[in-house]
Amino acid sequence: MSNKAILEINGQKHEFPTVTGSENEVAIDITSLRAVTNGVTTIDPGFKNTGSCVSEITFLDGEKGILRYRGYSIEDLAEKADFLEVAYLLIFGELPTKEALGKFHADIKSESVVDDDIRKIIDAFPKSAHPMGVLSSLTSALTAFNPSSVNVDSQEDMYKSVVRILGKFPVLVAWAMRKKQGLPLDYGDNTLGYVENVLKMMFKQPNEDYVQNKIIVNALNKLLILHADHEQNCSTSTVRIVGSSHAGLFASISAGISALWGPLHGGANQAVLEMLEAIKADGGDTKKYMAKAKDKSDPFRLMGFGHRVYKNFDPRAKIIKVTADEVLNDLGIEDPILDIAKGLEKEALTDAYFVDRKLYPNVDFYSGIIYRAMGIPVEMFTVMFALGRLPGWIGQWREMRLRKEPIGRPRQIYTGSTQRSFESVAK
Ligand code: SDX
Repeated sequence: MSNKAILEINGQKHEFPTVTGSENEVAIDITSLRAVTNGVTTIDPGFKNTGSCVSEITFLDGEKGILRYRGYSIEDLAEKADFLEVAYLLIFGELPTKEALGKFHADIKSESVVDDDIRKIIDAFPKSAHPMGVLSSLTSALTAFNPSSVNVDSQEDMYKSVVRILGKFPVLVAWAMRKKQGLPLDYGDNTLGYVENVLKMMFKQPNEDYVQNKIIVNALNKLLILHADHEQNCSTSTVRIVGSSHAGLFASISAGISALWGPLHGGANQAVLEMLEAIKADGGDTKKYMAKAKDKSDPFRLMGFGHRVYKNFDPRAKIIKVTADEVLNDLGIEDPILDIAKGLEKEALTDAYFVDRKLYPNVDFYSGIIYRAMGIPVEMFTVMFALGRLPGWIGQWREMRLRKEPIGRPRQIYTGSTQRSFESVAK
């Protein structure tokens, strides 16, 4: 493999070095491009061909459908790991020892209370507010109650900010849901595991004990692991670029939540359920929706299908599909929506439009079916995605800051009016 690239422009040839990753991916290093070509840049809407950084956190191969966190396969981690172990792995680079995991969890528990004044902020929202907007606002508000910015040169300070947001975020997630349901905003129970505690905060009724259901605990643990990181996706790139201005961790995560909210990104898991419900209401007519998805004059897209990087099965979708069957069977739930989803997948995988464009089910296609079986309201689906993605966002933000990466500031090509003189309105 060549370790240089030659570019000829304006009759001149320029040589650029390449960067080769540990999985033999190759990028052309164009950091000298403007200087050596007297101002020529590149343009790449959506950054489909452009890398923003080198990273040691997550590797994915879109053609082969491979996903690994710090070298561990997503299949192994989803099957065998605990979400907090995976969070530690993504953030600090190695799986924790038993002692380190115990200390990590204890430190998170010590940060699992939020300032009671946050209730005043959440009280100001209408019940109709989308929980992603509430979560993004409350996460940004954490800065007001924890004003000290993160001293990234201090491992101790960095560690404190990591356990602080991992402790407080699940409270905000639970409160965002209970606000909509008109339920009291409680705290969990620090004698519980991280995932069990999330479930108790979300679901405990004020006049009843909360009984954990192992099936639901295991399913949520797996779903959070599957969502934990995905290299430079839209919301993670947002967290990195906001953090690159040296904005704090909470502000950067708050921006990431807003990016994830979009229906083309994490918001797709809610849009998938709404689409499947519409198909069910339409008598299960999947063909009509397939036709809409292929009709260029129709803005409708088959939500939960397609991916910027995966041009093969999203490995997470494969695992979630199997888990959906298991959870519904174990809970004794018959959900016709799952059958509609499977029918839609089968049709799309044999339809030339989807096959030619390599459009496969992605992580969002089946996840909502499990969330619904767990009793999570559809507007909370993307909030659950954010809860899973939190360690990935933290790890990527930490890596970018520790590497002292420059502020993110892309160039552009201007195509507007050339210079013209101002005429006062009187004239
Ligand atoms: C996530 O990046 C990540 O890693 C994200 C994520 C993560 O973990 O962080 O994996 C999570 O966001 C998953 C994706 C969830 N979004 C959806 O399910 C929404 C539906 N999918 C699409 O909107 C789309 O597939 C994207 C946004 C996911 C990817 O879009 P791209 O890479 O910009 O592809 P494109 O829009 O250029 O599409 C290429 C072609 C186009 O047709 P042509 O112009 O070539 O004729 O495929 C078509 C598109 O119209 N197409 C679809 C389609 N997705 C792409 N047509 C119908 N239905 C779809 N879902």
